[in-house]
Amino acid sequence: MIPWPDQLRDQLQQRNDRHLRRHLHVHDRSGRRVRRNGRELLNFAGNDYLALADDPRLAESVAHAVRERGVGAGASRLITGTLESHVALERRLAAFKHAESALLLPTGYLANLAAITALAEPGDLICCDKLNHASLIDASRLSGATLRTYPHRDLDKLARLLDQTEHRGKPIRRKFIVTDAVFSMDGDCADLPALCALRDRSGAMLIVDEAHATGLLGKQGGGLAEMQDVAGRIDVTVSTASKALGSLGGIVSGSALVIDTLANAARPFIYTTAASPMQVAAIDAALDAIHDEPDRRVRLGELASQLRAGLGERGWAVADDPTPIVPLVIGEAERTVQLAAELEAAGLLVAAVRPPTVAPGSSRLRISLRCDHTEEDIQRLTEALPAFTTEGHRGPPR
Ligand SMILES: Cc1ncc(COP(=O)(O)O)c(C=O)c1O
Repeated sequence: MIPWPDQLRDQLQQRNDRHLRRHLHVHDRSGRRVRRNGRELLNFAGNDYLALADDPRLAESVAHAVRERGVGAGASRLITGTLESHVALERRLAAFKHAESALLLPTGYLANLAAITALAEPGDLICCDKLNHASLIDASRLSGATLRTYPHRDLDKLARLLDQTEHRGKPIRRKFIVTDAVFSMDGDCADLPALCALRDRSGAMLIVDEAHATGLLGKQGGGLAEMQDVAGRIDVTVSTASKALGSLGGIVSGSALVIDTLANAARPFIYTTAASPMQVAAIDAALDAIHDEPDRRVRLGELASQLRAGLGERGWAVADDPTPIVPLVIGEAERTVQLAAELEAAGLLVAAVRPPTVAPGSSRLRISLRCDHTEEDIQRLTEALPAFTTEGHRGPPR
């Protein structure tokens, strides 16, 4: 038998050979400018879209909470970990999400695991968009339900999957439609009204992950469902505080019945320590900022339009999506990493996203904007990128 350390080294070497090896790069903080490898870079790689991660008001809210209530909840939620501040925040989150009830978990990943594993079980059918986030896929597998994926945003194929009444000779008990609202590596959006219609027709449950839409889209920043005018019609919404809200925490919202079910049956909720008072305070202050300063999301939308137009002028096929995530699909992992390194040499930090995060052959530069970027920042990035026509890159396939 080959000793296990040699096996692990061999596996890492194989990743290296395919340009898929990952490394933990060290940064000084989250911000518009970050220091990495001793150099200051303009940051186009994070998810802190509203520039709240280092906002002094969030820091002050956390400092106050720590002084008043300490740093930890002390237990899991069903033991003594449910604090008054959790309950107050959950009420506020439910209102923000246009839902009856909400539940706070330590992270968005756990929130997806909790929602799907508590609601689905063997004998059920889960239909996932092919580009759904890994946490939705992992949760679906863990639930034991039959998982079927449909091609990205292909509602005809989804309708056919939902028409099924049995799987391997056994009747399907419950059906689920599971989708990202904003697709994290593509920056495009689900058609939630159409998904609601399919849900109504099929009797399925509709679960929407609003991780990259919460705080950004919709008149009040409630998310894509708010923007597409179906906020009250989503059965279960999962959100995270780790993107536009600038900190950490997962949120499930829906009917009181759904939330009660999760509190009783969701192992990722029951068997972990409650979100800390620090998280609660940070989320509370972020909700204040989102409510009081709609200009942040308006500004971000303007910057995203500027970037999309600038890239279009340089020959990139960039879709007109209402999000601050702009992918430039390069294709091969090696060339993508090389382009990201060239940008870094020019003082610009852009993520090179490779398999397994995206499909083989669709490695990409994932540009993400923050509301404190300037028009000059966007211009600098656009000009630093090679024009599509001269270097023969493909834009995102659409
Ligand atoms: C679509 C989506 N869902 C869920 C998550 C998980 O959220 P969190 O980082 O809060 O665990 C992420 C990001 O990591 C995401 O992009």
